[in-house]
Amino acid sequence: MLVKDKKSSAFIALENKYGAHNYHPLEVVLNKGKGVFVWDVEGKKYYDFLSAYSAVNQGHCHPKIINSLKEQAEKLTLTSRAFYNDKLGEYEKFITNYFGFDKVLPMNTGAEAVETAIKLCRKYAYEKKGVPEEKANIIVCENNFHGRTTTIISFSNDEDARKNFGPYTPGFIKIPYNDINALKRIIKTTENIAGFLVEPIQGEAGVYVPHDGYLTKAKEICDQNGVLFIADEVQTGIARTGKLLAVNHENVIPDILILGKALSGGVYPVSAVLANNEIMDVIKPGQHGSTFGGNPLASAVAVAALEVIEEEKLAENAEKLGNIFRKELQEFANSNDLIKLVRGKGLLNAILIDDTEDSSTALDICIKLKENGLLAKPTHGNIIRFAPPLVMTEDQLMDCISIIKKTITEF
Ligand SMILES: Cc1ncc(COP(=O)(O)O)c(C=O)c1O
Repeated sequence: MLVKDKKSSAFIALENKYGAHNYHPLEVVLNKGKGVFVWDVEGKKYYDFLSAYSAVNQGHCHPKIINSLKEQAEKLTLTSRAFYNDKLGEYEKFITNYFGFDKVLPMNTGAEAVETAIKLCRKYAYEKKGVPEEKANIIVCENNFHGRTTTIISFSNDEDARKNFGPYTPGFIKIPYNDINALKRIIKTTENIAGFLVEPIQGEAGVYVPHDGYLTKAKEICDQNGVLFIADEVQTGIARTGKLLAVNHENVIPDILILGKALSGGVYPVSAVLANNEIMDVIKPGQHGSTFGGNPLASAVAVAALEVIEEEKLAENAEKLGNIFRKELQEFANSNDLIKLVRGKGLLNAILIDDTEDSSTALDICIKLKENGLLAKPTHGNIIRFAPPLVMTEDQLMDCISIIKKTITEF
């Protein structure tokens, strides 16, 4: 056994010594999860208010998803795409019907799915729109977060994510988020625009919700100009914001849809890109792929994870509880100087702490929240994101709200 002393400090010391320091975790060591709860190695129970960045929408270790994982793991896990398997086709039929697209391209992580969408968009531009080779541009938004690969961080404006990882991939043009005129202007004045890649709500940036109508207008402009509208719903998708997809709040149908995280309920890395035949058919054998993408284990898990969303009406629950959460916290914020703003949709919410960007107040609050039995983490600066599993009950939510109020009042 590696760790004789089973205390948190021993596990933290191990990670600090042997793991790259690319994260800055709260000092809590978890070894069990069930539904909305996680437990640390000392046996203390917490509400999980981060849900692995919205991957665990269905709750920790959901029995149906775990059973599906176990059953399939005992039969066949990976064949590679050199051969067919008896799960992938079923999954492909299921997910394309579920989201209303002709075809899916299965990958593993969110960043891989974003890379896939970028490749698809560029290839479509060259082969179907006649954009000259090497000239395709994709519009992205300031303060975006789409993952950590070299191409994706090339169009980030977060210095931590980007600095000293160059040379950067060209072909991306940044415009302000939630600014329709900026989108219009850039499309009018720039040649060879292939696509517009956008998060329907910017999660990592601090849960920025665009104005009502922004996505609809953006889609209209894209349609009028032959620009593909690419929705990155890796964080916002799969019931998190109170609808199956965040674009459903505005009845927008993206040309390319990117999913990840909760597509497996957090038990396995599963991501996907969905599009209709006209777009997806530009990808031919040998032009894109992944050893693990579309493996039978992932396929079985994803079907179960999506069934749970529907069977347990998790979008409806997120909508209902989200409304309660924002109302309660807004009332609290009105009489508390520390909270400047409450915002979000469904169960993807954030509070903005009234302090300087570089102060540690948000982190200090999260440390206190942890002591009081609730796990959350600041995003950028003084913003705390609140995103519990969607299987939460109203009573549990009220309990959480009282923990949050009590903790912040103590400051
Ligand atoms: C909107 C969005 N896109 C892409 C990603 C990247 O996903 P992954 O970490 O699985 O690569 C994330 C992760 O937080 C995300 O929020």
